Amino acid sequence: MRFGYFDDKNLEYVITRPDTPLPWINYLGCQAYFGIISNTAGGYSFHRDARLRRITRYRYNNVPYDFGGRYIYLRDDESGEFWSPSWQPTRHDLEDYTCRHGMGYTLIGSRYKGIVAHTNYFVPLDENLEIWQLTVTNHRSQRASLSVFSTVEFCLWDAQDDATNFQRNFSIGQVEIEDGVIYHKTEYRERRDHFAYFACSGKVEAFDTQREALVGPYRSWDKPLALERGRLTNSVAHGWAPIGAHQSKVELAPGETRQIIFVLGYHENPRDQKFDPPDSQILNKRTVKPVIAKYLDSAHVDAAFQNLRRYWQGLLGILQVDTPDVHTNRMVNIWNAYQCMATFNMSRSASFYESGIGRGLGFRDSNQDLLGFVQMVPSRARERILDLAATQLPTGGAYHQYQPLTKRGNNDVGGNFNDDPHWLIVGVAAYLKETGDVSILDEPVPYDNQPGSEQPLFEHLQRSFQYTLDRLGPHGLPLIGRADWNDCLNLNCFSDTPGQSFQTTTNKDGKVAESVFIAGLFVLAGRELADITERRGLAAEAKSYLAQVTAMEDTIRRHGWDGEWFLRAYDDFGRKIGSKECSEGKIFIETQGFCVLAGIGLADGMAVKSLESVAKYLATEHGIILQQPAYSRYYLELGEISSYPPGYKENAGIFCHNNPWVMIAETRVGNGDRAHDYYSRINPSAREPISDLHRCEPYVYAQMIAGRDAPAHGEAKNSWLTGTAAWNYYAITQWMLGIRTYYDGLQISPVIPKGWRGFKATRIFRGVTYHITIERAGEGNHVALQVDGVPIKGVTVPPPADGRKEVWVKGTLT
Ligand code: BGC
Ligand code: NOJ
Repeated sequence: MRFGYFDDKNLEYVITRPDTPLPWINYLGCQAYFGIISNTAGGYSFHRDARLRRITRYRYNNVPYDFGGRYIYLRDDESGEFWSPSWQPTRHDLEDYTCRHGMGYTLIGSRYKGIVAHTNYFVPLDENLEIWQLTVTNHRSQRASLSVFSTVEFCLWDAQDDATNFQRNFSIGQVEIEDGVIYHKTEYRERRDHFAYFACSGKVEAFDTQREALVGPYRSWDKPLALERGRLTNSVAHGWAPIGAHQSKVELAPGETRQIIFVLGYHENPRDQKFDPPDSQILNKRTVKPVIAKYLDSAHVDAAFQNLRRYWQGLLGILQVDTPDVHTNRMVNIWNAYQCMATFNMSRSASFYESGIGRGLGFRDSNQDLLGFVQMVPSRARERILDLAATQLPTGGAYHQYQPLTKRGNNDVGGNFNDDPHWLIVGVAAYLKETGDVSILDEPVPYDNQPGSEQPLFEHLQRSFQYTLDRLGPHGLPLIGRADWNDCLNLNCFSDTPGQSFQTTTNKDGKVAESVFIAGLFVLAGRELADITERRGLAAEAKSYLAQVTAMEDTIRRHGWDGEWFLRAYDDFGRKIGSKECSEGKIFIETQGFCVLAGIGLADGMAVKSLESVAKYLATEHGIILQQPAYSRYYLELGEISSYPPGYKENAGIFCHNNPWVMIAETRVGNGDRAHDYYSRINPSAREPISDLHRCEPYVYAQMIAGRDAPAHGEAKNSWLTGTAAWNYYAITQWMLGIRTYYDGLQISPVIPKGWRGFKATRIFRGVTYHITIERAGEGNHVALQVDGVPIKGVTVPPPADGRKEVWVKGTLT
C-alpha cells in the first residue's frame, strides 16, 4: 500500500494522506540554517549545531510521535471554528491534503470547508532564516472572514539543557516585540550574541509570546484557548516558555487569494554592538531589519525559491542516468543524491531518530559520507576533510565524533574505535579522484586541534595507516579496540552493569581481540594510500605500503578464512567470531562484502565462495542480514550486538549500510544481475508499494530493515542519516553503472544486469561534461570504449587534451 506517489518531473514525493505510518520528513536548508519538517509540519530548526544552537523546541517520542512544529491555524471568525491546514495539530478531516517534499522545501496544503491553504516552507540559499509562504484562497460562494495564526515554540538554545534544566530555564526566557516582529533573546543580555526572530507580512492584530497565555491551562496545541476565544492576548514572556505567535486577519471575497509570509530566523551581532542604544539592554536590530524587510516581500521570496530550485537542478545535473529501471533512475537522479547532501550536512545528528543532542559529526561516518557527496560541492568536502583531520590524535587514532560548532573532538563520545583512522584515507582518496586537487595533501593540519602540531594532511594519512601496524594482535590481524565499523561488536567491554554505555564505558586495554573487518579495510585503505604516495613521487614508500597490504592479505588468508566465508573477528579469549564453529553468529556480512570489495580472494576463489555463502545464508527478499544465526541471549564477551532482540539493528537486522559492500563485491566478481538484484531489494523507491510494511519514507534509505528473526521482518527504521546513502550511491553509480572517478580521468566500466540493453548517462567531471552511452552486444562485462568516435584502449577516458568541455563516450559491452 502507498501513501503518495513520486513526481519525478518536479523532483518531489507527494504524500496524499497525512496519517503516514511514521512521520515522513524532509530537510530545510543545506548550508548553515537547517530544519527538519514532517509531512504535517512537525519538526524544528537550528543553526549549524542541532544541540548547541537549537532555534525551536521539539519533544521527541511524543504522543503522537510527531507533535510540535511550524503550525499555522486558520480560524473562521464567523463560526469560530479553527483548523490546521497541515492537519496537525487539530487533525480535522481535510480535503485534498497533499504534502510535496522537494529539494530543500516542503509544500503542505489542503482544503477545508471551501478554504484552500498551502504553505511553502524553505530556507533561502545563503540566509539564516526560513520562509513559510502561506497562500489562502476562498472557494466559497460567500465572503470569508478568517484569522491566520502562526506558532513556534522557542528553544533556549542548548537543546539538552532546554529539555532538562527547568529550575533555571523557567526563569530566563526573554523576548522583545517591535512592529509585530517577535525577537527571542534569552541569554542575550549576558554571554550570547545571537537571537531569533519571527515576523509576519500581514498586519499583526495581536501576538503571544508566553506559551500558557496562548494555550491555556491543561490544554495543548490542538485546542489553544486563545484560538477558541478568537484573539491572541499580547502576552510578553518573562521566563517560562517563550513562543512566537501572530494573528492576522484576512477578509476574502469569493475566489480571492491572499498570501501571508512568515519569516523565522537567526541573527548574530558583533559583541561590541549588541545593544541599541549601546548602554541599554535593547537588542540592536539595525542589521537584522533589512533582512526581515526583504523576505516579507513576496517578490524576493519567489526569487529566492526559484534560486533554490535552480541550485538543486545544478547539483543533480552533475550525474543524470537513464537506465531501464525506473527505481535506479529516480534514486540516482534525485533522491539518493539529495540524501547524500543531508548525511553530509547532518552526519548522524538530527533526524526523526537522532535527537540532535546525542551525536555530533562522526569521524567514520563523515568520511564515508564523502563518497556520495564529494561531486556535489567539492569545496565543502575539502573543508570537511581538513576539519576531520584536525581532530585526529597524534597516534593516528581519532575521536569518534566532533561538535560542528566548535570543531573539537568530543571526548564524551569515546575513542579507540580502531577502524576510524582508515576512513580518512578512504575519504581523501575519493576527494582526490573527483577533483584532482592534490594541493590538499600539503595543507598543514594540526593534531587534536593543538596549535603548533600542524603537519601536511599527507602525514595524517600515513599516521592513519601506521596506527593499525602499531596495533596488531596474536594472529597479526588488527586489534579491534572499542569496536570497528560495527559499533556494537564490543569485544573488550565486558559490561554487566545496567545502563552503562557500550560506546563510552571504560574498556579493557585488550591485546587479544582482533578484527578481520579492519584487516579488509586496511587492505583497501593501504592500496589507496600507495596510489596517493606513488603519485607524490614517493615510489619506495608506496612499495612498502603495498608490501604491508600483501602481508595483511596473506594473514587474512591464513587466519581470517573459515572455509566457506571470511571470519569476522577473534574475541578476547582468542576464539573465533563468525565461524561455523560458533553456535550463533556463524556468518557475518561485513567481512564478506568488505574483503571482496577490497579485492581480497578474487584470484583464488575465496571471493566467489564468500559471496555464495552470503546468498545462501544472509540474503532475504528485504535485503541482506548482518549475521546469522541471530544471538538469542546476551554474551558478555560480545557486548551491544547481543543486547538487541534478534532481527533488530546489529543483531541480525538488515543493516542497509553494508548491503552495498556486497553489491560492489558482486560487481568485482562480474555478477551484475546479483548486484542489481540486491540493490533493488533495499531501494526505497522499489519498496514503495509495500509502504505499509516498510513504514519509513519511500524516498530515502533507512539505516535498518528488520531481519527475518524479528516479528516485523521488512519494517524499516532510522531513515535518512545513515552511511547507506553514500554507499548505495557509490555502489550503483561507480560500480554497477561503472562511472568511476579516477586520478587520470573518468573510468567507464559497467557491470550491469544481463537483461539490460544498455543505458545512458551524463556526468560532469572536473568541468567536462561526459555524454555516455552504453550498449550491450553480448552478455559479459568487457567494455570497448570510443571517445568522440575514436576507439581507446582500457577503461579510462582521459580529460580532453584540447580543453573541450564536452565529450561523447560510447561503450559496447560484450
Ligand atoms: C547503535 C549503533 C550506533 C551506536 C553509536 C548503537 O546503539 O546500535 O548503530 O552506531 O549506538 O551511537
Ligand atoms: C551507525 C553508526 O553511525 C556507524 O558509524 C556504524 O558503523 C553503524 N551504526 C554500525 O554499527
